Amino acid sequence: MAAASRARVAHLLKLLQSASCQCPTHSHTYSQAPGLSASGKTTDYAFEMAVSNIRYGAGVTKEVGMDLQNMGAKNVCLMTDKNLSQLRPVQVAMDSLVKNGIHFKVYDDVRVEPTDASFMEAIEFAKKGAFDAFVAVGGGSTMDTCKAANLYSSSPHSEFLDYVNAPIGKGKPVSVPLKPLIAVPTTSGTGSETTGVAIFDYEHLKVKTGIASRAIKPILGLIDPLHTLHMPDRVVANSGFDVLCHALESYTALPYHQRSPCPSNPIARPAYQGSNPISDVWAVRALHVVAKYLKRAIRSPDDLEARSNMHLASAFAGIGFGNAGVHLCHGMSYPISGLVKTYKAKDYNVDHPLVPHGLSVVLTSPAVFTFTAAMFPERHLEAAEILGADIRTARARDAGLVLADTLRKLLQDLNVDDGLAALGYSAADIPALVRGTVPQERVTKLAPRPQSEEELYALFEASMKLY
Ligand SMILES: NC(=O)c1ccc[n+]([C@@H]2O[C@H](COP(=O)([O-])OP(=O)(O)OC[C@H]3O[C@@H](n4cnc5c(N)ncnc54)[C@H](O)[C@@H]3O)[C@@H](O)[C@H]2O)c1
Ligand SMILES: [Zn+2]
Repeated sequence: MAAASRARVAHLLKLLQSASCQCPTHSHTYSQAPGLSASGKTTDYAFEMAVSNIRYGAGVTKEVGMDLQNMGAKNVCLMTDKNLSQLRPVQVAMDSLVKNGIHFKVYDDVRVEPTDASFMEAIEFAKKGAFDAFVAVGGGSTMDTCKAANLYSSSPHSEFLDYVNAPIGKGKPVSVPLKPLIAVPTTSGTGSETTGVAIFDYEHLKVKTGIASRAIKPILGLIDPLHTLHMPDRVVANSGFDVLCHALESYTALPYHQRSPCPSNPIARPAYQGSNPISDVWAVRALHVVAKYLKRAIRSPDDLEARSNMHLASAFAGIGFGNAGVHLCHGMSYPISGLVKTYKAKDYNVDHPLVPHGLSVVLTSPAVFTFTAAMFPERHLEAAEILGADIRTARARDAGLVLADTLRKLLQDLNVDDGLAALGYSAADIPALVRGTVPQERVTKLAPRPQSEEELYALFEASMKLY
């Protein structure tokens, strides 16, 4: 990085970091919702853990046909994407269905990084098929598409926006019964097999949003590490960065008891509730695994130990963030993906421009954690230490910069694109990126520190170049 550019980013980060300290030690009344008292009456007092059943084992996909038979499924929809439909993970799942006499239809038109239009096509397929169970074999794109297909085919009179997160959609709670969905993840990234979240690109607004409800989570996640041996280098890297950010963001999110409002009925308690002691356990564990195995998993396709551990870490982080939520890296990533111009991601076998989710998330992480560290410096320092930083002489007020440096070093070591500029963005795009972040309240309000539009602007600016 040129000296002038380095000085500019350092200056921006200093500004982000040095805004008045609002950490709990100095501000006992802090709440993301302005005007609410901290008496405990308007903020939540409880959190709930919702997780799919998980079965882990090398080769466990061969059991999926028996699972469907055990649940009496007669007419099954198997969803995947075109690339995976030619690969072994889908073949193994289909063989199991055939062997167990399960009648099924394949939908392999899942779009990598799905859109509302691609969700709608899958929903139509599901409605026509009148299926009594679903199997998703793929990454987050496939699992999320399958969740949406299950939801809307079970609630055929709903409008598409009914269940989409507010304020983009109506965010209605799901009260209809869904069909069982078994998820077989083939990336080590989203943790979607454990969560009630389905993300898509809302093309009309050019931002990603999603559906978040415990009701749409799979009944079973079959985590089969043999599938990870097929992943190309950049898919391992980008999906691994997703795990990293799920863990970092859920661990540093606003605590659940500082989130407002307190729901009057448990059905209205959001899936993303804020950091909590149970999610914390999973997030920290996931960080340790990422620190130990991510580089190995990327560099050595045959390293089954590393790839298996990353596959598990993806579920660990999923259990954590699926209940605690994520915050600014994810909130800012949605317009980064949605506004993509011509960027083509290496190793992604698709015919459209695409910023892979994990990449869109991780590129802002140094700036984001510089900004949020003022709130929970100990957690930021702890994360940096887990990721390899020497924090023996670090002061609390440097926590954000220490974590940011650690992240930058990791990304540089792994040949990651040098910031948003490398994806084709420039300063002229920042207003649109900020506009796309503002409606992502479901996650941005979980940031431990509220953000003004000027601060979002500075965060994007500081993420244009990293090294
Ligand atoms: N539901 C959630 O909780 C959640 C969380 C994070 C991200 N997401 C969403 O998930 C999507 C990203 O999912 P992803 O990162 O898992 O990737 P993906 O599903 O988009 O797949 C990426 C590419 O990798 C290929 N691929 C997948 N597994 C492979 C394998 N084993 N071998 C060879 N190729 C393989 C796919 O065919 C595709 O080309 C985004 O839309 C993101 O917003 C959802
Ligand atoms: Zn993610």
